[in-house]
Amino acid sequence: MTPKPPNPSRLEANQAPGSTPPSAVTLTRPDDWHLHVRDGDVLNTVVPHTAAQFGRAIIMPNLKPPITTAAQAVAYAGRIRAAVPKPVHGGVTFEPLMTLYLTDNLPPDEVKRAKDAGVVALKLYPAGATTNSDAGVTDVRKTYKTLEAMQREGLLLLVHGEVTAPEVDLFDREAVFIDTQLIPLRRDLPELKIVFEHITTRQAAQYVRDADRFTAATVTAHHLLYNRNAIFTGGVRPHYYCLPVLKRETHRLALVKAVTSGSAKFFLGTDSAPHPAHLKEHASGCAGCYTAHAAMEMYAEAFDNAHALDKLEAFASFNGADFYGLPRNAGTITLTRERWMPPESFAFGEAQLKPLRSGEALPWRLA
Ligand code: NCD
Ligand code: ZN
Repeated sequence: MTPKPPNPSRLEANQAPGSTPPSAVTLTRPDDWHLHVRDGDVLNTVVPHTAAQFGRAIIMPNLKPPITTAAQAVAYAGRIRAAVPKPVHGGVTFEPLMTLYLTDNLPPDEVKRAKDAGVVALKLYPAGATTNSDAGVTDVRKTYKTLEAMQREGLLLLVHGEVTAPEVDLFDREAVFIDTQLIPLRRDLPELKIVFEHITTRQAAQYVRDADRFTAATVTAHHLLYNRNAIFTGGVRPHYYCLPVLKRETHRLALVKAVTSGSAKFFLGTDSAPHPAHLKEHASGCAGCYTAHAAMEMYAEAFDNAHALDKLEAFASFNGADFYGLPRNAGTITLTRERWMPPESFAFGEAQLKPLRSGEALPWRLA
């Protein structure tokens, strides 16, 4: 699809540092290329948040048990669609894009069935890397027959890029993954489209920047806004704990530079990952930040802080669709510079869900 010429009314966002900051930004309706919505009752809380902002979202398959067949993905998509608010006055719609969870023995035949059912990608979790990843891959070479089928069928591989060996320092797990896992995988399956998900380090940003056209990365809003101090300032703050964990400021700066560089290899993936508040505020708290309630607001803040609001639309609305080979969305959203206070919490089944930035003002608001 050929890029549309820029709409002059949108160029107000294109501001040099020191000039008057824009008071509004209008973007082609964006997509979220990495999202957790869980299942059951809680879909009615979290799906409307995403559907209010995004045209589509890549739905992560790490349920308990995980989504490993085309039939399960189709059924799960139906439950998600049922939680999308009905469009008012012929308004916007939302479409979940489904994925399967790659295991050591996901049969290559399932790839064809998945493709026929509209599944767009498979997710590789190294076993034990993160929330609900026990069924993950123990050795990526065990999955090569399945990955070859994906390469043939044009399904993408979405990678949680962290090694899990206990002797590797938690903060080095992504960088070690690149050297020991990703580089060999890239060499062995040269035309498999790979998304390095939720990158958090300078090393990952450089690797993706310099990689070929079959490699891209998603970046979360929280990794653009925060460094690891956020987890420890004034006491342990569990709502800032996610995996891959927040890193040093030098890494945050490298991510901001990557997403504002104009490179089409980087695109939006919130990794919004809801957990009941009592399981995050716990002696062994769950990993995951909930950002779906104000995702575009947080990305706008990060790009605005970098004087790069003019780069937000490609990152949020073009690069991901282009990499996945899907059409860009029709319609637009508008963000205005207006302080507002997100809620302290949302109902989450019987529990509470505490969003990132709960009770802390945000400078941008979705109109
Ligand atoms: C995710 C979750 O809770 O499902 N947690 C997280 O910290 N990001 C899993 C994941 O994407 O790693
Ligand atoms: Zn995730």
